[in-house]
Amino acid sequence: MNNEHKKITVVGAGNVGASCAQRIAERGYVDVVLMDIVESLPQGKALDILQSGPLLGFSNSIIGTNSYQETTNSDITIITAGVTRKPGMSRDDLLLANMEIVKGVTDNIVNYSPDSIIIMVTNPLDAMAQLAFRLSRFPRNRVIGMSGVLDTARFKAFIAMELNISVRDIQALVLGGHGDTMVPIPRLTTVSGIPIAEFLPEERINSIVDRTIKAGDEVLSKTGISAYYAPSAAIARMVDAIVLNENKILPCSAYLEGEYGINGVFVGVPVKLGRSGIEDIIEVKLTPQESEALMRSAEAVRELDKIMKLD
Ligand code: LAC
Repeated sequence: MNNEHKKITVVGAGNVGASCAQRIAERGYVDVVLMDIVESLPQGKALDILQSGPLLGFSNSIIGTNSYQETTNSDITIITAGVTRKPGMSRDDLLLANMEIVKGVTDNIVNYSPDSIIIMVTNPLDAMAQLAFRLSRFPRNRVIGMSGVLDTARFKAFIAMELNISVRDIQALVLGGHGDTMVPIPRLTTVSGIPIAEFLPEERINSIVDRTIKAGDEVLSKTGISAYYAPSAAIARMVDAIVLNENKILPCSAYLEGEYGINGVFVGVPVKLGRSGIEDIIEVKLTPQESEALMRSAEAVRELDKIMKLD
């Protein structure tokens, strides 16, 4: 194993976890451990990914395991373990089942990788990030929820489809929780610096906003399984920002301590992601309407916290 490589553990070898392991292994600059409690599943998937190395040209390590021992001293641990939605379910319906799973995973991270950064992906994502944060007692820069990176990518993809322009030219921002209360911000969405309102009438923008909020459901209702191509790409993007110390501004779920007038809850806001995880929380001046929507989203996450009895 090349000691210069960062060690990344992905907990959960389901669709999101395995695709994420594949995407980050293919980057070639990290060693990957795919961990799952299901016997031989992570080992098989890791072997399959490893065998793509000679074709794709990566030679970093990827192993599968059922033992947390092998995850020891991970620099980043990505939690994808848990049950996923069936069509018709909301992310919040998963709370009680996934709470128990995330508790167990967090205990193991604390024991085996006390200096790890945690990226939470298990739904309901903001509440699960809160759970891992409280249980681990890690500093807030080291517990990050993957939400806005995915939601913003979906928003950008829909705008590019509508305008028939390159998705690379779009800068967009989605704040709030990863659920029905998420808050896409069209006012801060541009095409090569030109406000989106110059390209589209308000009702078209509203309909793209609506489709963005329901984007996960749209995939789920078509395939019968929760999305994983875009979610795994979003996680890999965050891993890039941390491992390469990019200091990149990305919307992520972060524990707020007064920023945006919100205290003691995880919610999606722009953060600077670099070597230490969240290097900074960026406070953008919001309109009263946007701010109210963000507050509502934070309150929805707080309701889930109450159910988990974290206080
Ligand atoms: C989605 C799931 C991953 O948004 O929450 O597709």
